[in-house]
Amino acid sequence: MKTIFSGIQPSGTITLGNYIGAMKQFVELQNDYNCYFCIVDQHAITVPQDRLELRKNIKSLAALYLAVGIDPEKSTLFIQSEVPAHAQAGWMMQCVSYIGELERMTQFKDKSEGKDAVSAGLLTYPPLMAADILLYNTDLVPVGEDQKQHLELTRDLAERFNKKYNDIFTVPEVRIAKEGARVMSLQDPLKKMSKSDPNKKSFISLLDDPKQIEKKIKSAVTDSEGIVKYDKENKPGVSNLLSIYSILSGKTVAEIEGEYEGKGYGEFKAGLSEIVIGTLKPIQDKYYALMESEELDLVLDQGAEKANKVANKMIKKMESAMGLGRKRK
Ligand code: AQP
Repeated sequence: MKTIFSGIQPSGTITLGNYIGAMKQFVELQNDYNCYFCIVDQHAITVPQDRLELRKNIKSLAALYLAVGIDPEKSTLFIQSEVPAHAQAGWMMQCVSYIGELERMTQFKDKSEGKDAVSAGLLTYPPLMAADILLYNTDLVPVGEDQKQHLELTRDLAERFNKKYNDIFTVPEVRIAKEGARVMSLQDPLKKMSKSDPNKKSFISLLDDPKQIEKKIKSAVTDSEGIVKYDKENKPGVSNLLSIYSILSGKTVAEIEGEYEGKGYGEFKAGLSEIVIGTLKPIQDKYYALMESEELDLVLDQGAEKANKVANKMIKKMESAMGLGRKRK
């Protein structure tokens, strides 16, 4: 079986964007791959976090992974900071990265723009991400489109390491969903939906209740035309809503356009709200039950144990390739 690794930051409650672009794919892939799914809390602290909020988000994200259908019998679910090899390998990957290439990353540029104090961790986020992936001999990384650039850098760093030191890393392929790889903000459809967006109306979180969902969709930015039609260039707001509708309902965009022909945005948005609420209801029911159970800790303990075993083997190979430490028999 080939290996998959993917991570999500506990930097807020995950959004419909994270779900459609990443998590939904994970559930489908876990039957055919040896999967590692990671709660990347060390990535989350590259920007300021409230410690209590972060702890809460870590537990909540673990429960959401299971609630959407990640099966711990098939996949390894763990927390990044509980596997110290990530930080160790992250340092080694930093030492094969160049400052110039890190400064060129769009996520770094976006997140540091206009800020007086930017953490060094924000700049070195990509080599830590490369370490996360490379530790597990990963063949495939399913992510949303926004992570494509980081994945290209991961491949470059793996090839650079293999050439300079020893050929130990599998160079991973990226897998981007055909649809929904970039779900856009409800308030600014030219910007991607993000869980840490200060404007809460811009995203639907997986834990929003039906009233919040209705309200957010009702206030989603569209246009004055009143025609439900997919046209990404001229009607980005409506097109984004149509994509979400199509992915969650399983209907084609053309079918939905036909259904709402001659009807206004009000009816279309009410229909979309119903679809989103219906999709999230079973996930939320499972989530609240899991948050009360002891299952979560058991799954995370087992996940950390397995991940530590695999990752520590790769750390030894990396250290040996770079000449760190002593030679042992
Ligand atoms: N809007 C999106 N559409 C589709 N996929 C998305 N992803 C993120 N936003 C969208 C994918 O979700 C996975 C987890 O992302 P992450 O938590 O590692 O970080 P991110 O990409 O920076 O996501 P956010 O929500 O924007 O987080 P913050 O606000 O903390 O920066 C990834 O596979 C990502 O591609």
